[in-house]
Amino acid sequence: KSVVLSGCQPSGQLSLGNYIGAIRRWVDMQDSHDCLFMLVNLHAITVRQDAQKLRDATLDGLALYLACGLDPKRSTIFVQSQVPEHAQLAWVLNCYTQMGELNRMTQFKDKSQRHASNINAGLFTYPTLMAADILLYQANEVPVGDDQKQHLELARDIAYRFNTLYGDIFTTPEPMIPKVGARIMSLQDPDKKMSKSDDNENNYIALLEDPKRIAKKIKRAVTDSDEQARIYFDQKEKPGVSNLLSMLSCATGQSIDSLVPQYEDKMYGHLKKDVAEAVVAMLEPIQQRFAQLRGDRDYLDQVMKASAEAASARAAETLSKVYEAVGFVAKP
Ligand code: AQP
Repeated sequence: KSVVLSGCQPSGQLSLGNYIGAIRRWVDMQDSHDCLFMLVNLHAITVRQDAQKLRDATLDGLALYLACGLDPKRSTIFVQSQVPEHAQLAWVLNCYTQMGELNRMTQFKDKSQRHASNINAGLFTYPTLMAADILLYQANEVPVGDDQKQHLELARDIAYRFNTLYGDIFTTPEPMIPKVGARIMSLQDPDKKMSKSDDNENNYIALLEDPKRIAKKIKRAVTDSDEQARIYFDQKEKPGVSNLLSMLSCATGQSIDSLVPQYEDKMYGHLKKDVAEAVVAMLEPIQQRFAQLRGDRDYLDQVMKASAEAASARAAETLSKVYEAVGFVAKP
């Protein structure tokens, strides 16, 4: 089976964007692929986090993964910091990555503008940690959104460089690019993606949010103020309406083409009401399962322990090859 690896940062409550763009797709890969899914808390601290909130978001994220249908019997579902090989390989890869390569990363440029008071070295070397995540498990495929494509390209370059120097140590990963409609945009500013750490809470829908609040946020979502309030899909001309249609399509399983004619003579309000109902109907069973799982800390601990051990055993094999290749003396 092809090895697939992906993860979310517990840098806030997981959002509808994380679910539609990532987690939901992962659920469907579990039988056909050898899957590893992480909560990447090492990545999350590249932006300052409140310790208690980070802990809570990590446990919430784990329970949410399970509530969404990720299955610890079929996939390895783990917390990044509990597998020390990630940080260990990242250090080595830092020494095989050029400053110039990292300087070109657009996410670093974006994030260092947004967090100007904390432009730390970890934020700069975020992509080498991501390369370590991927290369440790010899992942063949990595599901990535647009914003991560450049990082994956760097991981491929690092793998190639390392292999050229030392022989076949790493598998070169391929990007797994999702089909269209994969990107859920901000509700108030539909030209940018929905982000869980957005300062404006009205921009995103958290998976654990109260259904009434979800409906309210969708009702207030920015639509478009062209003369005739027509409902059709055009991400350039009608980003707000198109985003609502994408959400409706994802939540109902109906294609956008089949949805649009249903709104021919209707108003934005109708569309919003339907989107809210569909999103709430999709999230309610997840929220119910979450409540059960999150209350069972023993079970979550059991999952974390077994998965971290399984991940670590796999990761250690790669790490020892790397240590040997670069000339580290093996621990007696
Ligand atoms: N709006 C989105 N639409 C579709 N997919 C999305 N993803 C995130 N937002 C959307 C996908 O979710 C996975 C995990 O993302 P992440 O948690 O590592 O970080 P991110 O992409 O940086 O997400 P956020 O919410 O914007 O986090 P913050 O605000 O902390 O930076 C990825 O596969 C991503 O594509």
